[in-house]
Amino acid sequence: MKKILITGGAGFIGSHLVRLFVNKYTDCQIYNLDKLTYAGNLANLTDVEKAPNYHFIKADIVDGEKMISLFESYDFDQVIHLAAESHVDRSISNPMEFIMANIVGTVNLLNAARHQWKNDFTGKLFYHVSTDEVYGSLGDTGYFTEETPYDPHSPYSASKASSDHLVRAYHDTYKLPIVISNCSNNYGPNQFPEKLIPLIINNIRNNKPLPVYGEGLNVRDWLYVVDHARAIDVIFQQGKIGETYNIGGHNEWKNIDIVKLVCQIMDEKLGRENGTSEKLITYVKDRAGHDLRYAIDATKLQRELNWEPSLQFEEGIRKTIDWYLENQQWLDEVSSGHYLKYYEDQYQNR
Ligand code: NAD
Ligand code: DAU
Repeated sequence: MKKILITGGAGFIGSHLVRLFVNKYTDCQIYNLDKLTYAGNLANLTDVEKAPNYHFIKADIVDGEKMISLFESYDFDQVIHLAAESHVDRSISNPMEFIMANIVGTVNLLNAARHQWKNDFTGKLFYHVSTDEVYGSLGDTGYFTEETPYDPHSPYSASKASSDHLVRAYHDTYKLPIVISNCSNNYGPNQFPEKLIPLIINNIRNNKPLPVYGEGLNVRDWLYVVDHARAIDVIFQQGKIGETYNIGGHNEWKNIDIVKLVCQIMDEKLGRENGTSEKLITYVKDRAGHDLRYAIDATKLQRELNWEPSLQFEEGIRKTIDWYLENQQWLDEVSSGHYLKYYEDQYQNR
């Protein structure tokens, strides 16, 4: 039976990917390796945790010896690597954690795969999941393609760019069979409420100010998380070794417009008078080095591997809001304790 290792499977995107793989590949063993940082939550996976082909391993990818010994014990055939520190604002206040998890952690996994696979790469794959932020920032026009030069601006995006380069270097130098994908902003159920959309939903629910950085004119290209997981599956199955694929939904929104849309839908769902939530919008100090616009050209993935997003944004955002309203206990649990301290540090002087 093939053994597939998914790192970061208790996080937002990872949990959707683990669910897809456990349900779809019943003839494979799926191993979810996660440190369970503040962003990792096994409650995201209760529906699959008892499946006979699902296994959880609590471990830190920064521990290189542990990675080698896990590869020796389990002899994984394929790896899909998502574990990372993922929040830009946290990378600005604490860059070192990002260097360790995103760069050192990735190299530890590359070394463990090399150590275990030796030079026999039959049936092996190291799939690295990355971000469009490595390409930097666009002006008002144009798109990121797979050929766009790397130009990261935050410690988060620089750490992801470094890890992408290292993954490619292990392919060029040691012939490790790799593939990389770079995706735009994801939204959907189970996203930690430090990120824009769940933060806005959570704050509306609690009648708290809605912090919009700068003038709210920065643009992000939003993709429903399940469509990202579907794209990873397609690339995992059919992607060409050594290649990079961009993933995105051609769905650009200015931050302020998305905040207003969420306000409008939340008013409707909560039975509040239209305009109530918008009154909570508060413009705050901009993020340092804030990239103006991201927009992905996903033509290669569409043309070569026949992938397309399945959901329109209007439907996806309503499904997302419904999920948070139906899972308020999940939101309350993840936004208590350490989260409150983080929130205070992050927003009190803005
Ligand atoms: P997340 O923060 O929700 O989850 C990250 C997971 O990794 C958590 O479960 C956490 O416990 C785990 N983790 C962190 N450090 C670890 C370590 N040292 N050892 C083991 N596990 C560790 O992140 P996400 O939004 O689901 O992103 C997943 C991946 O996708 C990341 O690599 C990110 O860069 C990439 N990505 C995210 C987006 C997005 O919009 N969220 C878009 C493109 C790419
Ligand atoms: O583009 C892909 C990236 O998308 C991923 O690689 C990252 O892991 C993920 O966190 C996300 O990064 P962003 O910085 O784009 O996402 P975030 O939700 O933090 O912010 C989205 C936009 O909203 C950004 O322009 C900053 C702004 N913002 C964010 C927060 C948290 C606000 O205006 N107010 C806020 O409180």
